[in-house]
Amino acid sequence: MPDDSTDTIDRLHELLDRAASIVAFTGAGISTESGVPDFRTPGSPWMVNKPIPFEAFVKSREARIEAWRRKFAMDDHYADAAPNIGHRALARLVAEGRAPAIVTQNIDGLHQASGVPDGKVIELHGNGTYATCLACGWRHELAAIRPAFEASGEPPACVICAGPVKSATVSFGQAMPQDKMSAAQQLALEAELFLVVGSSLVVYPAATLPIIAKKQGATLVIVNREPTELDAIADLVVRAEIGAVLGRLAG
Ligand code: APR
Repeated sequence: MPDDSTDTIDRLHELLDRAASIVAFTGAGISTESGVPDFRTPGSPWMVNKPIPFEAFVKSREARIEAWRRKFAMDDHYADAAPNIGHRALARLVAEGRAPAIVTQNIDGLHQASGVPDGKVIELHGNGTYATCLACGWRHELAAIRPAFEASGEPPACVICAGPVKSATVSFGQAMPQDKMSAAQQLALEAELFLVVGSSLVVYPAATLPIIAKKQGATLVIVNREPTELDAIADLVVRAEIGAVLGRLAG
């Protein structure tokens, strides 16, 4: 396991202490210490199945059934996942007014669970803790959907308009939430320090955000166990475990 030098970690904290405004940008790596596997570390259960593209979900009843089967199976793995010290460190930056918001690619709701107000978590890839109707947008709670799905084997349909109901996450091929992306782009444009935590930075358009921040003059810091696609443009790369690096911020 990589363990970057204490000098690098000290340097990180110097930069964080000096920054009046920090935009945190997180990926699946911040949740692995809560027991939620990331997507691209070899052996991840997410790698077992090819993702079901949005178009297939919309067009095929079989694809919707398979997508819901996988969803509930994965949920069982993480039902008791709790925020870890990395989440708590970022939550403290928000609570102290040093971070205006957290931009996340994650769908697990752990930033909110660590105490960050929902309005300060910008979820670029949606949220997997509830579902919505693709036709009318009506919100559906998973606890209400699961028993009916497991009893009938039928994919959930909207209680209001009978449209297809899907986990409120963004699938490959599905439009990104424009309001979230615009808010995140604005934060990147205004960032003084842009802090990437636990992302391989391979998925676009999310990965344009550190590039936008760097281009406008922000200090770009990447905290990640493995090399990322954007290490070359970062001002500081901390190759270590997130909890160990950010822990002192959690208080
Ligand atoms: N400490 C430091 N780094 C870690 C830790 C940890 N405890 N755990 C994992 N990492 C690193 C991994 O080495 C990896 O480089 O976090 C990174 C996570 O990268 P990905 O698994 O690719 O996750 P992410 O970048 O969030 O993926 C982006 O891809 O599949 C889509 O929509 C999905 O939002 C996701 C997007």
